[in-house]
Amino acid sequence: MIPRHLFHGDEPVHPHAPALLYHLVYCSRAAADVDSAAVDRIIEASQRGNAVRGITGLLVFGGGLFFQWLEGPREQVLELMALIEHDERHHGVVVLDTDEDVRDRLFAGWDMERVGPEDVRGVLVDALGNTRDPASAQALREMLMLLDSGRLAEIGRS
Ligand SMILES: Cc1cc2nc3c(=O)[nH]c(=O)nc-3n(C[C@H](O)[C@H](O)[C@H](O)COP(=O)(O)O)c2cc1C
Repeated sequence: MIPRHLFHGDEPVHPHAPALLYHLVYCSRAAADVDSAAVDRIIEASQRGNAVRGITGLLVFGGGLFFQWLEGPREQVLELMALIEHDERHHGVVVLDTDEDVRDRLFAGWDMERVGPEDVRGVLVDALGNTRDPASAQALREMLMLLDSGRLAEIGRS
């Protein structure tokens, strides 16, 4: 018998089941006056804001472009993205991918981490090697395909 409180409607609820996780990936062009120190300040503010919102991810800056991976509860990610889109430190925001799935976080320990353009591929390959979750592996493979497709090629040119 499964105790009554572990049911929600007819569905058994597992207290430690992985939750629905939303992710959003975009790239954008940095404003002309944004330098490396300005990006560090964005990272500091992001770490504070994301810890509160339950969002994790990474930010790549290089060649005058940003590339960011955000993952967390759907509402929180979309609310944050609405703020980020209007931020004057960048423009031309293009959302590359969004998805929602029951899976583990890829960057559970990173409230927001700055990754150099030369390291982003390695970070994604490492994460792929570390995950045992098929949905996470699929999300990572799609990211790597995007990175290798040339659409993000400029990020590597700093
Ligand atoms: C490229 C870029 C990425 C950003 N990423 C985040 C983020 O992950 N989390 C966050 O809270 N703010 C992020 N920001 C900052 C937000 O746009 C906004 O300035 C901030 O959420 C406002 O926080 P505040 O009200 O504490 O000043 C980012 C800004 C830029 C330009």
